[in-house]
Amino acid sequence: MKVCLQTYGCQMNKLDTALVDSALKQAGFNLTDSVKDADVVLINTCSVREHAEQRVLSQLGHLKHIKESRPEMIVGVIGCMAQRLGEELLEHEAVNIVCGPIQIPKILSLITEAMNEKKKELAVSEKILKKSSDKENQALEEFESFYGLEEENIPSQAFVRVMRGCNNFCTYCIVPYVRGTEVCRPPEAIIEQIQKLANRGVKQVTLLGQTVNSYKYKQGEKTWSLADLLSAAGEIEGIQWLKFVTSYPSEEFFEDIMQVMADSEKVCKYLHIPAQSGSDKILKAMNRNYTAQWYLELLDKARAIVPGIAIAGDFIVGFPGETEEDFQATIDLVQKARYRNAFIFKYSPRPGTTADKRLEDTVPAEIKQRRNVELLAVQEKISDELSREFLGKEEIILVEGLSKKSHINSDDGKNHPQLVGRTETDYIVVFNCPVSLAGEFVKVKITRTSPLTLFGELAE
Ligand code: 5AD
Ligand code: SF4
Repeated sequence: MKVCLQTYGCQMNKLDTALVDSALKQAGFNLTDSVKDADVVLINTCSVREHAEQRVLSQLGHLKHIKESRPEMIVGVIGCMAQRLGEELLEHEAVNIVCGPIQIPKILSLITEAMNEKKKELAVSEKILKKSSDKENQALEEFESFYGLEEENIPSQAFVRVMRGCNNFCTYCIVPYVRGTEVCRPPEAIIEQIQKLANRGVKQVTLLGQTVNSYKYKQGEKTWSLADLLSAAGEIEGIQWLKFVTSYPSEEFFEDIMQVMADSEKVCKYLHIPAQSGSDKILKAMNRNYTAQWYLELLDKARAIVPGIAIAGDFIVGFPGETEEDFQATIDLVQKARYRNAFIFKYSPRPGTTADKRLEDTVPAEIKQRRNVELLAVQEKISDELSREFLGKEEIILVEGLSKKSHINSDDGKNHPQLVGRTETDYIVVFNCPVSLAGEFVKVKITRTSPLTLFGELAE
């Protein structure tokens, strides 16, 4: 039986796909990249912006076409969009299974039932904002622990979830409505999982959570924070780099987390901490609980505790009511923050969120587009300046694998393909070296830079 898995969206989704991948392989399925020879196609979907949903809908149109000649092919939609649209998605001609993020542990039995009983299968949460039940949490925990146990293809890096869902309710955001409210995983389950991955040769672990820095787990007298998790994970032999995403600007635990970053060789000096806007009026309308000034002071604190820290951010342009003055405040913040990189998105109203219910999407598409381009240009200049500081320096890189454009450089008569890796501060580095170094740490001398990518050659 062949399964084709396709993923849209964030790291959380990629991790869910990896879990499904592991579970299906262990159940004897073979994975294929091509829908053409797949018996089952599973699409892991994203609802964060309308565009992501449209891409899935057009893919479903394509699959419907394929199913005309192969009606027995099973198509499952899993993830955020499955939870958001539920029954409506099940009515789509191409779709056999709709399974929300909390029901993912059921995916194997849903596939079997859809195949054997030739009927459509729906598994979503009816009351997603109600705390998930102990049974659901246990099923998710068990499913999570399958991960990474298959024999082949041990990657050098892996993701480990520390919490699910989100309690922040930023007014634009669909996440709590599709992934539920916050549930933190028990620290021993997280540590055990990292230990297992380390035993299998994983060198870098990225801890994942929608607001990862608010991780909190009470155990008797002790309350575990992300700082405690990072310290404990840092003790694990074999793990050399620890990263964590994404952080919410909050004072709670912040200094402790920064202190572990400063003290531990293993915790990478990289902080992804979205501001979303530089206008206090818009921040308030977004239900972000801080002002631009307070946010910038938090970045100062991070830089004081961790010299050399690289900071990344996210922004939404064209939020309802955003004037030119508000947008200018965002530009000012970006200029002051000196991010190494910022992800910029155009506001997309999401049905069911507070912003969509209460605020009209007032900023026209062309203004959102213009603000997006303008903010990108401001950030690009900063990214470029920061990248240039790496020129001539030697950097430690974890080699990920062949670069997309990997060409063979045979200037010296040898075949050195182009590889790609990342620095501790999450810069992508492209350089020529033997493929056998994939998954290893190497030292690279930086010879050329662009705003987001460094280029270099193997040192020593
Ligand atoms: N419209 C546009 N961007 C959004 N994001 C979240 N919700 C929306 C939305 N409705 C952005 C935020 C978040 C990132 C993952 O996606 O910037 O940090
Ligand atoms: Fe990730 Fe958010 Fe998209 Fe869900 S909606 S996949 S949580 S980005």
